[in-house]
Amino acid sequence: MGSLATGVPTAVFASRNPDKARELEALMPGWRIEQLAADIFPPEVGDSYYENARAKALFGRSVEKRQLWVLGEDSGIEVAALDWGPGVFSARFGADDPVGRLLAELVGIESDGRRARYVCELVAVAPDGRELRGTGILEGRIGHEPRGSEGFGYDPIFVPEGEAITVAELGNAWKRSNSHRARAARALLEALDT
Ligand code: IMP
Repeated sequence: MGSLATGVPTAVFASRNPDKARELEALMPGWRIEQLAADIFPPEVGDSYYENARAKALFGRSVEKRQLWVLGEDSGIEVAALDWGPGVFSARFGADDPVGRLLAELVGIESDGRRARYVCELVAVAPDGRELRGTGILEGRIGHEPRGSEGFGYDPIFVPEGEAITVAELGNAWKRSNSHRARAARALLEALDT
């Protein structure tokens, strides 16, 4: 086990997003996930999810004084018709109504233009500065109207490849096994175990 602490390993998650913290806790069985105690987080200014995830983890490392792993995460959605944007700018896309904005951008666009993917990068930094990384991708397409009530963000309009309904309809249990964050967490857990 990659924990430097004894007992149940704890990782401190450098994010202010409680939805992601809840998902991550379910995705890392055997780990306790605490949200970093910080009021102000640095802005996301990197050109890639990895840079942003790493910056969050290193910020957390500088704040967290205990001998615990610190995690940083960045994720986003990429849509074919938007030249595979908004990508790293996903959080700033569409202000209060990102789903409405994305659907509006895709009016009149069918088939290939609606192809999309979710991407997630997770970075873990140990107390000694050692860094590990996990990447996850979920391919799919954007539906025509919001459906379903679980998940968050773009989930009501994201239909995964091989499925006929949205992530919000498939639900949180499905997300725990299949989401981009689940895939990134599995990759990170493998790295933590080696
Ligand atoms: P950030 O990683 O906090 O910068 O946010 C990334 C953006 O992608 C946010 O707008 C989220 O709503 C969206 N996003 C990331 N992961 C998911 C997900 O699992 N479901 C739906 N939207 C997501």
